[in-house]
Amino acid sequence: MTDRSYPLNTWYAVGWDYEIVRGRMLARTICNQPVVFYRRADGTPVAMDDACWHRLAPLSKGQLRGDNVVCPYHGLEFEPGGRCVHMPSQETINPSACVRTYPIIDRHRLTWIWIGDPASADPGRVPDLHWNDDPEWTGDGGTLHLKANYLLAVDNLMDLTHETFVHAGSIGNEAVAEAPFRVSHDRDRVNVTRWILNQEPPGFWGAQLGKPGPVDRWQIIHFTAPSTIALDVGVAVAGTGAPEGDRSQGVNGFITFAITPETEKTTHYFWAANRNFDIRNMSRTTIWREGVRKIFAQDEAILEAQQTAMDANPDKVFYDLNIDAGGNWARRKVAAMIAAESRSLRRAL
Ligand code: FES
Ligand SMILES: [Fe+2]
Repeated sequence: MTDRSYPLNTWYAVGWDYEIVRGRMLARTICNQPVVFYRRADGTPVAMDDACWHRLAPLSKGQLRGDNVVCPYHGLEFEPGGRCVHMPSQETINPSACVRTYPIIDRHRLTWIWIGDPASADPGRVPDLHWNDDPEWTGDGGTLHLKANYLLAVDNLMDLTHETFVHAGSIGNEAVAEAPFRVSHDRDRVNVTRWILNQEPPGFWGAQLGKPGPVDRWQIIHFTAPSTIALDVGVAVAGTGAPEGDRSQGVNGFITFAITPETEKTTHYFWAANRNFDIRNMSRTTIWREGVRKIFAQDEAILEAQQTAMDANPDKVFYDLNIDAGGNWARRKVAAMIAAESRSLRRAL
């Protein structure tokens, strides 16, 4: 059994694709594993353990020589596959001199690593966050470095009742907390659907719609285990058929989240706020991005405070409310992935 809270056989976002650039190394810890990232001359990304085979010096403090990494301590040189190709003061290279490398792929403006068994790294399983780079959508995003376990961030996004309390004044109002919601799940997916019908919109959404009067508002959470979320949100003029599928009298956003455990108690949280209307208006893109950034700073504060309180109360447990149904299903899907990994590990031993 493992006491890890995260599975390893999955794609995790390690950063925005622009953060990994040619000619420079980026050190980042993913699932407790320090990794160094860089790009080859042809632009393809590389991920390898950030610890030299010889004496474990961090390779990220070394240099790039073409597509290879040179250790900062005694100059061992590793090619992008992790094999040592040069050792100082000796002609024969010890064939076991390798550092581990990882499958890595650019997709939907993010770069993703498979930290588990490389044999099962299927590029077809990179989570679908196509709204980040679909030509019919536009948007931009940012990163939070959260001092909290990644599942607290998942819980936070799987229940938007907290908007009423954490985000009062921007996207939260009483109507959110009072509206009923529906949870469905299938294999590694969980969806939570909430419609808030015929209510005055909160400030942000009223401004986006640009028309006075009540709206039908939706929040449809699409979760893919272990920690990717696409949040379909919007408002339409009340009674114009949005719940039945006609969104033509409304405005729609897809907020995407790729949430990656850095350690058990810290998290890389990559978000982007996309929309499919007025897509050439860059100032609206900036207003959305900065508005959403402020909203997530409020989440960051409550999640870090929650983690601190959990650490200070190690004997206490969580209790469940109806509103936790989505988050609890997400946690069950994650637990099933972890259990499947330990079963296959036991079989292999
Ligand atoms: S620690 Fe890297 S070459 Fe010695
Ligand atoms: Fe929030």
